[in-house]
Amino acid sequence: MASSQDYEELVEVDAGTAMGELLRLYWMPVLPSKDLIAGKRPTRIRLLGEDLVAFRTPDGEVCIQGAVCPHRQAPLFYARNEVGGLRCVYHAWKFNANGLCTGMPNEARARKHPEKIRIPSYPCRERNGVVWAHMGNDRGDASELPDLPAVEWNMVPEEQVYISLRVQQCNWVQALEGEIDSSHAPILHGRVDGGGLRSQTAWDNDLDPELEAVDTELGTMVGACRESGDKNYWRINHFMMPFWTLVPPTSPYPNLSGHAWVPIDKHTTLTFMFSYQPTEPLPEKVTRLYRDGARGRQSGHLSEDAHLAGPDAHIRPFGAYWPTLNAANDYGYDETLEESHFSALPGLWVQDAACQEALGPIMDRSKENLGASDLGIIRMRRMLLKAARALRDDKERPPSSDRPELYAIRAASPTLDRDTDWRTGSAEFVSAGGDYGYDVL
Ligand code: FES
Ligand SMILES: [Fe+2]
Repeated sequence: MASSQDYEELVEVDAGTAMGELLRLYWMPVLPSKDLIAGKRPTRIRLLGEDLVAFRTPDGEVCIQGAVCPHRQAPLFYARNEVGGLRCVYHAWKFNANGLCTGMPNEARARKHPEKIRIPSYPCRERNGVVWAHMGNDRGDASELPDLPAVEWNMVPEEQVYISLRVQQCNWVQALEGEIDSSHAPILHGRVDGGGLRSQTAWDNDLDPELEAVDTELGTMVGACRESGDKNYWRINHFMMPFWTLVPPTSPYPNLSGHAWVPIDKHTTLTFMFSYQPTEPLPEKVTRLYRDGARGRQSGHLSEDAHLAGPDAHIRPFGAYWPTLNAANDYGYDETLEESHFSALPGLWVQDAACQEALGPIMDRSKENLGASDLGIIRMRRMLLKAARALRDDKERPPSSDRPELYAIRAASPTLDRDTDWRTGSAEFVSAGGDYGYDVL
């Protein structure tokens, strides 16, 4: 159980709040590169509570800037995307890639100084088909920033990765903790056979594994142990600061998955899911499953036909990524599915979304009753709050914000000898080339 006060502090995202400032230390994945076409009009997004526009200049540079013109506050999503920057359509003031005003044609005789006027402009980078933004400074200055985190899914070529985005209508911590809570997986996502849970794999034979967690310089690593013959079968998940989760494979395919739970604002989250294979392209049948769903049901990825259409869809932030299945239609709950699906909800991400967001955007966590299975959630909340307060009170930056190489790790499912320490015994499976901070164990 968390106190209401702690939880309220934890879900803040605005500049000036402890958590908002912590979040502004980190790079955030924002959009697929293909969404931003050179010279096309800006698209509406919102990050950490700030209304923004994202666009690609005619020269190919990606920009993320404030959505409001500082003259008379016209919306810049109508702005012209010109060589040299955005030009507001109201009175033609122009802003360059660093956000500086470079022209105000309707004020030429009044000798105004355009260089004193600016819009927020946040550093952006692109890597392997993904646009990243950093909101640590609003002057477009990337010179002091660390490299992008070495998350393996974005270090490998694009054909080895499938990403999907969806907007989730709850705060980012509420969304994030849904994936740290690994004990829900065989239950909420379970199949039903003859009235009981059907055992499909070694790991869902046992719904009550022994959990251990360890904090690292990067986040929290949670190991779930189940006996398997004379050995131990471990499932190892990660929370990585500040909003990342990695989970081991749950399908027969050897691909790895996880999420960035990127805060749009205090009540809304950009759920950025990735699945990948470290050494080879994803099989076509897997990509097809993600893209099209499975016989009318959703996989872990939002299928391409599950995006909300309609007259107002495009005017929301991240308008292309609001799902058709949501609280307004009970997430497609279908009693006829009860014969095959424990939840009667039509697909993996739908099941998660329904449990994470259906009862409101910020739950009162002082009313919950946490158990041993919630160890990872408890560690994650504690770590985030501690880091945010250390930054606020002592200007202390968490190591993860300055050491991108820490992020080169994997979730894993090793089978280890009974007397092997799972933390060191799993190292070869967990490392993706990085040093993931074991020295603080
Ligand atoms: S409101 Fe943008 S130029 Fe006047
Ligand atoms: Fe889940």
